Amino acid sequence: MFVIKLMSGKGENVMQFKEIKNNIYYCGLNDCERTIFDELIPLEHGTSYNSYLVKGSEKVAVIDTMYPPKTEEYIDNLVKNNVTRIDYIIANHGEQDHSGSIPALLEKFPEAVVVTNSKVRDNIVEMLLVPENRIKVITNNEELSLGDKTLRFILAPGVHWPDTMFTYLVEDNLLCTCDFLGAHYTFDDIFANNSKELEHSAKRYYAEIMMPFRTMCKKYTQMIREMKPEMILPSHGPIYKDPDFILDLYADWAADEGKNLVVLPYVSMYGSTEEMINYIQDKLNSKGVQTLKYDIVRDDLGDLAMALVDATSIVLGTSMVLAGSHPAAVNIAYLAGVLKPKAKCAALVGSYGWGGKLFDMIAQMLSGLKLDVIEPLQVKGKLKSDDYKKLDKIVEQIYEKHKLLGLV
Ligand code: FEO
Repeated sequence: MFVIKLMSGKGENVMQFKEIKNNIYYCGLNDCERTIFDELIPLEHGTSYNSYLVKGSEKVAVIDTMYPPKTEEYIDNLVKNNVTRIDYIIANHGEQDHSGSIPALLEKFPEAVVVTNSKVRDNIVEMLLVPENRIKVITNNEELSLGDKTLRFILAPGVHWPDTMFTYLVEDNLLCTCDFLGAHYTFDDIFANNSKELEHSAKRYYAEIMMPFRTMCKKYTQMIREMKPEMILPSHGPIYKDPDFILDLYADWAADEGKNLVVLPYVSMYGSTEEMINYIQDKLNSKGVQTLKYDIVRDDLGDLAMALVDATSIVLGTSMVLAGSHPAAVNIAYLAGVLKPKAKCAALVGSYGWGGKLFDMIAQMLSGLKLDVIEPLQVKGKLKSDDYKKLDKIVEQIYEKHKLLGLV
């Protein structure tokens, strides 16, 4: 249903092995060819699965592993780079794009033990059949010595699963943040270039993966600021040598206040719903309110998710299919319901043919959000002169809401 932009990522589609600093290595993969994640939202620049090798004076640890289909390449790459021993496999999260190679790694390195929290343990035992007797469970702030290096584990439930934790490399002041602060982005250099393109990818990633956990994002953004790590090492995308680059972005995206922006997703079968959306858009623009319009059927779902990061209001337009909302509009309402954007106000408009309940399903999908929902407007076929007056009223109510919030 949604258009997938086929764009290639950067860099070589091969496993990498590069020193970050002081016996700490990047050993992940640029997956430039992957075009969709979670079978949901298109990837504009592929993604990377980051894994980090830490060689202490006494023990060797690997922090997070690899996406399951790439396991063989991953282990071959470690061996090729003279990794002959792994004592600890640190599992920051149970989702398989990071934990997927644990079983094979345990087989390859029989002395290795998985070090993780109890929630990840439960997940990987059940999902990946990792033997429980090969797992050491740690608690919040517990430390593990590798000799001249120490790993400290910080439980961070909610960014992105309840099992998520961070690993802090104490002496080197590096923080591995797992999915948090990541980006679906590939790179020539393992270090972030702080470009607009990276910012775009990181925002898209935030919208799809982190926005539902906005409160936790705020909490951990602040916590990491106070820790002042030298670098942030996420599980997707490049390493941030300048942590403020990504922390400032997260502080903005996760803030409670939205921007002076109205997002208008719509699906229109015979043009009347589109006319309503266009009318609302023009009127809002003339009052100094910014707008972004999305053709739900043809435009990129990731762009819509990104717009929802900043929007204060949503105007959803739908045609009727049979006796209910268009399924594409229901899908968008469902997605908005689970992504939990910070929007404060919503309006529903649309056009129908022979009758039915145009908005019931959509309203149900949005009911979990804290939205002031303006009286919906549905018209039969083409708009009549009275309908424009009703649309003016909707515009006025949105404008007043933005004004009340100090946005215009
Ligand atoms: Fe990149 Fe929640 O896994």
